[in-house]
Amino acid sequence: MPSQIRSYPDYTAHYTLAQQDPDAYWAEVAGRYHWFAPWQQVHTGGFLRADMQWFAGARTNLAYNCLDRHLPVLADHTAIIWESNDPREAPLHISFAQLYDQVNRMAHLLRSLGVQRGDRVCIYLPMIPEAAYAMLACARLGAIHSVVFGGFSATALADRIRDADCQLLITADATMRGNKAVPLKAIADEALLHCPGIRHCLVVQRAGIAVEMRTPRDLWYHEVLAGVPRDARVPAEEMNAEDPLFILYTSGSTGKPKGIVHTTGGYMVNAGHSFANVFQVQLQDIWWCTADVGWITGHTYLIYGPLLNGITTLMFEGVPTWPDAGRFWEVIDRHKVTLFYTAPTAIRALMAAGNTWVENKDLGSLRIIGSVGEPINIEAWEWYHTYVGKRRCPVLDTWWQTETGAIMISPMGGQPAHKPCFAALPLPGVEPVLMDPEGKEITWKPGDTIEGNLCIRNPWPGIARTTWGDHERFLNTYFTAYPGYYFTGDGCKRDAEGHYRILGRVDDVINVSGHRIGTAEVENAINEHPDIIESAVVGYPHDIKGQGIYAYVIVGKPGLPQEEIARTVNEVIVRLIGPIAKPDKLQLVTDLPKTRSGKIMRRILRKIAAGELDNMGDTSTLLDPGVVDAIIAGRQ
Ligand code: PRX
Repeated sequence: MPSQIRSYPDYTAHYTLAQQDPDAYWAEVAGRYHWFAPWQQVHTGGFLRADMQWFAGARTNLAYNCLDRHLPVLADHTAIIWESNDPREAPLHISFAQLYDQVNRMAHLLRSLGVQRGDRVCIYLPMIPEAAYAMLACARLGAIHSVVFGGFSATALADRIRDADCQLLITADATMRGNKAVPLKAIADEALLHCPGIRHCLVVQRAGIAVEMRTPRDLWYHEVLAGVPRDARVPAEEMNAEDPLFILYTSGSTGKPKGIVHTTGGYMVNAGHSFANVFQVQLQDIWWCTADVGWITGHTYLIYGPLLNGITTLMFEGVPTWPDAGRFWEVIDRHKVTLFYTAPTAIRALMAAGNTWVENKDLGSLRIIGSVGEPINIEAWEWYHTYVGKRRCPVLDTWWQTETGAIMISPMGGQPAHKPCFAALPLPGVEPVLMDPEGKEITWKPGDTIEGNLCIRNPWPGIARTTWGDHERFLNTYFTAYPGYYFTGDGCKRDAEGHYRILGRVDDVINVSGHRIGTAEVENAINEHPDIIESAVVGYPHDIKGQGIYAYVIVGKPGLPQEEIARTVNEVIVRLIGPIAKPDKLQLVTDLPKTRSGKIMRRILRKIAAGELDNMGDTSTLLDPGVVDAIIAGRQ
């Protein structure tokens, strides 16, 4: 077997071996990393009890594999290019040797603040190099990081800190996103009122604004760092392969966001291998993944995947449309980016801004361009292919999830003729199956076109191992609908040639601008509004965001104006979750379509929100079918 997948025959060789002898396949892949001690078994356990383990008994360290392992050859090679929100601020080029120094110093500091192996550290930072230092320093010490996206509110941050019982918070004074300031420290202060477990809050000075520092809890990073020797070295902890590496919160159909737990060895192997092969990376590549560190894409393909491969990764603090809609393309030209990875929502927003922003840019450095996070529509795919990839660069539509840890289904960069909007074929080691409504596998043979719920048959190294503190919930969410399989929550099509096309969520999760939001989470927040008795939230097609949020609310006091309710609902959402969960449309209703057993028929609400009004389907089981007409009449 060739060590890298460079062609379609390579892909087939890898896929076949991974299917026939997964242990041999993954042992060979894992052999490219540094292990302090070998594994006893490549993989054990499975989906029936969600007790899968990979490389059990082995010891390794992810930060060691991202840094120390490369130093003999790549010390002067650029690890991170940092591009500020402000185009006038000079970019930073941080070499592997410099990154190694910074991570060691941060690790030294964290250790002196009492952080130990297994402790949880919450990272609430903008897109600045310190976010990478912090993650890698935690990995070096064996502390478990929980990165919280900087757009989440104080309440959302506090919930996540408490759920993971974090001992330390790392944040910044503030950050600029376009021309908007986000006062991270002030938000953190509010959160920390409800987090007695936090012993210290380390504050990175980024914006230079005045913030309140509470002693002895709060410490300026630059001040305490001044006391750490320049050449401080902290040995990389020898972590067990199955020790948790990080927790990342994500939304599901029900309840509060859950802390998805990824472990050290399997995640490392999967992140490194998928990155190298999907994007066909070469050492001189300049890689740019636009995702925020607060999401899984930011973990796997902004930080860990590239650094594991010794590749230069570009980190961008700003937004695609500021100072103007040419910013992405300017950054690509400025740094001669060769591989570019972004979300359909950004592509659609830039497409809507008009072609002039992109047409006058060179973009000749680009080799491969990718898409992630939500289904890409054909218009966006074509535009991306034509104007950004100049019809030269393959467009890779990569499908995966927070839970999968790494890309699962995707075209590979080296293969021509990608079908628009198709995620194409599974990566080696991934066996997708489509399920019918009775829960049976739909068989497929060449020439068939099938559609069903997407499951995966076999464990792969990077799959999440549990939800923090609640294994039962993990089991129930992913492994009970189809016993013995992992259920993704997505619908999927498979075409006559065997290629997969992801259709989007089939559960009560919506995908707004690539952000995954649970409708229950939004409803719970709306129901905190003092004037609202009940609410139902659904997604609907949105030109730019992919899906928008449509909220139906029942108000207790009649006569309150719609605008007033919409404004105050937004305030509640921003306070409890963050601006990303604000409804795009809000409709006051007097009743919701419920069955006799009191269940809201969301199918009907989704149709009304989408404007599909001709056929509501069977409404005979509704307690009061008249409700439907009333809601249609008041549709926003
Ligand atoms: O619905 C799928 C969609 O994003 C969901 C996972 O969201 P999250 O855990 O936040 O991870 C996003 C980044 C990996 C999936 O269940 N999704 C992700 N990639 C694609 C996609 N939908 C269609 N096409 C994709 N390429």
